[in-house]
Amino acid sequence: MMLQVKNLTVQYGPADPLVLQDISFSLEPAERVALIGANGAGKSTLLLTLVGVITPRGGSIILGGVPMSRKRLPELRQLAGMVFQDPDNQLFMPTLVDDIGFGLRNYGFDEKTVETRITTVLAQLGIGHLKNRLSHKLSGGEKRLAALAGVLVMEPSVLLLDEPSAFLDPRSRRTLISILAGLPQTMLVATHDLELAQALCPRTMLLKGGRVFAEGQTRELLQDHTLLEQAGL
Ligand SMILES: Nc1ncnc2c1ncn2[C@@H]1O[C@H](COP(=O)(O)OP(=O)(O)OP(=O)(O)O)[C@@H](O)[C@H]1O
Ligand SMILES: [Mg+2]
Repeated sequence: MMLQVKNLTVQYGPADPLVLQDISFSLEPAERVALIGANGAGKSTLLLTLVGVITPRGGSIILGGVPMSRKRLPELRQLAGMVFQDPDNQLFMPTLVDDIGFGLRNYGFDEKTVETRITTVLAQLGIGHLKNRLSHKLSGGEKRLAALAGVLVMEPSVLLLDEPSAFLDPRSRRTLISILAGLPQTMLVATHDLELAQALCPRTMLLKGGRVFAEGQTRELLQDHTLLEQAGL
């Protein structure tokens, strides 16, 4: 099992309602699962909890055999990489190339490896021409691809993607889907793009009000219009 989540409960503040309730699921190595649900269903919160940005109130997370704990966060962050819903929360170095290399340098990779990996990932995503551009001056779609590059370059075992196709033009979106489909990583993909879910993820988990409302084969689940309507989609 690459990821195992049991009875996960999340609350933002002590006076706030539970945002995630009793979430349990697991991902096999190389499995790709779509995470769908209406606005506010808890998709982003779940992904953020899985990378340790949010501390759960209850339940357990085991990632690549490592139980989630504050002490083991550095290790866990190498195992799982998340691309945030808002790329402005991800990009913070002045130029794209510095941004993408930041994580690698932080983990002490030698400069030659850093350069090679950056070149490879930029070519893979077709954004080599943006290399020396200022991160904050990129377009929405360019930022999104740049944020993905910064995560892929770390070669994590698990990819947590929050709305990866948002802001992408049709061609970049198709490119993204085919790139993701060719990656070996285990993936959990939060998305409103049901076509992407269908194309990329054999399995889907549907959240409603912070709970798993349905789970199953993507094709079957997306054909169940009553179910989707009940979930606010
Ligand atoms: N920092 C926060 N403090 C308090 N409540 C929050 C915070 N962030 C999110 N929430 C609440 O948690 C719930 C789940 O939000 P979340 O962002 O996880 O939903 P989502 O499924 O990702 O929605 P979307 O499709 O709009 O991205 C919402 O009710 C939201 O208002
Ligand atoms: Mg979200």
